[in-house]
Amino acid sequence: MKNILEAPFMTDMIRTTAIMYDHGWDERNSGNISLLLEEDEAAEYIDTKAVLRTIPTGFSEPSLDGRIFLVTGTGKYFKNVEYAPEMNLGLLRLADGGRQAEVLWGFSDGGKFTSELPAHMMSHAARLSADPGNRVVLHCHPANLLAMTYVHTLDEREFTRTLWRMCTESIMIFPDGIGVLPWMLCGTNEIGEATAEKMKLSRIVVWAQHGIYGVGRDLDEAFGLVETAEKAAEIYMKTAHLRILNTISDAQLKKIADHLGHTVREGYLD
Ligand code: 13P
Ligand code: ZN
Repeated sequence: MKNILEAPFMTDMIRTTAIMYDHGWDERNSGNISLLLEEDEAAEYIDTKAVLRTIPTGFSEPSLDGRIFLVTGTGKYFKNVEYAPEMNLGLLRLADGGRQAEVLWGFSDGGKFTSELPAHMMSHAARLSADPGNRVVLHCHPANLLAMTYVHTLDEREFTRTLWRMCTESIMIFPDGIGVLPWMLCGTNEIGEATAEKMKLSRIVVWAQHGIYGVGRDLDEAFGLVETAEKAAEIYMKTAHLRILNTISDAQLKKIADHLGHTVREGYLD
């Protein structure tokens, strides 16, 4: 059996949590990540038949039955993951139609998976239907996107269009736009279901006055989506109160998308 601490999925996860903390996106225990692994991938490092504990999830997600995820722990600090991965992370397999989580490794202090497991698992299910290559769901609290949800309309077409206009790169990276949810109680099945519904059409979902979800085929892609949206929100927050002399027009946005052959979210450009 190979050393799990040297597994590429583990080193990627550790690097990502550390960088996210350094970006100021994950104060205290905020933020959470789940990474879908193939059974064979996990089996190189752990005995996948040996279940350490079983924890009820509080929801069901039959399409993910038997799937294995590397997940951050609830109440754990991203800044500490690199120093104690086995305590701050866990490998779990969903069982019984997603109603149970079988812990296969980690959560070594008796802890458990993130309180946002419903939003993560339901988003994985939604994204796998849209893109079978999706592997990552990532959540954090970047300041500019949060600030924007206090001063900008939460209409997701308008929210998306504003972010597209802030940097030429935005529409290249998220042509599918941004889903926006009004304030809702976090850590619940309800916010999980609402997030997954938005995830059917866009790979970024903003939770007003709370944070952001990004997904991707790997950790870099999910991180890069959040990074690009947060940069655009930063430019918005730096300029919204100033007299705007120049902008990117809809015709120019269309030109960018056409140049790259990207399909833009229908109805989002005038
Ligand atoms: P957890 O510590 O349970 O992952 O919660 C952090 C968070 O960001 C809640 O939305
Ligand atoms: Zn959060």
